Amino acid sequence: MTERGLFITLEGGDGSGKSTQFRLLLERLEAGGYDALANVEPGGTPIGQQIRRIFLDPANHEISPVTELLLVFAARAQNVDERILPALRQGRMVVSDRFTDSTLAYQGAACGLGADTVLEVDRIACRGLVPDLTLYFDIDVETGLARARQRNQRGDGGEARIDNRDIAFHKRARAEYLRIATDEPARFQVIDASRAIPQVAEEVWSAVQALIERKIKV
Ligand SMILES: Nc1ncnc2c1ncn2[C@@H]1O[C@H](COP(=O)(O)OP(=O)(O)O)[C@@H](O)[C@H]1O
Ligand SMILES: [Mg+2]
Repeated sequence: MTERGLFITLEGGDGSGKSTQFRLLLERLEAGGYDALANVEPGGTPIGQQIRRIFLDPANHEISPVTELLLVFAARAQNVDERILPALRQGRMVVSDRFTDSTLAYQGAACGLGADTVLEVDRIACRGLVPDLTLYFDIDVETGLARARQRNQRGDGGEARIDNRDIAFHKRARAEYLRIATDEPARFQVIDASRAIPQVAEEVWSAVQALIERKIKV
């Protein structure tokens, strides 16, 4: 096996606690002496940030699903080339707040483009890069959106345009995440995100430690 760093992604609906757990995990990794690269999608690189602004601007409500799909992957391709692959090649760990599973859930299932279309673009943009571990924060849609609304009222970290879609849209995204969990149980770990922040963080840390131990044994 090549000495490539571990690639961990955090997934879930809006308000499921991804960004909260992302920060806690990075702190814990740093405290443990791990040199981890933090990646946030959509965004990440300066080019990705510009693409993110188009994607999240509430004024762009007429954006077509295919345009949205290509914008998400344009930002992701830049992340993969400029940051993620170089870091993994150096043996560094990479932790990403959202990755391709988000696109399967939102553009593929919720918007209806289908998984095949998403994976076709993924093949070009990510060139076979698949996470070693995906932590999926599962929570019922209403609870997640209520948390997200509270957060957005405080003006921090919202994905504003996505939040405003209807409940059925978010339910289709959750169903797709659960479909992936069934299809790829080794990579995709479901975490009950309805619990308190420290309890969720403990499960995240156990999963990451187990992955690190598996990797050392290989
Ligand atoms: N386990 C939890 N219990 C209660 N509130 C939470 C929990 N995790 C996160 N929150 C709060 O919910 C809001 C959304 O969390 P956030 O991490 O931004 O979610 P996401 O990045 O998945 O959209 C934030 O205000 C955060 O402080
Ligand atoms: Mg977030």
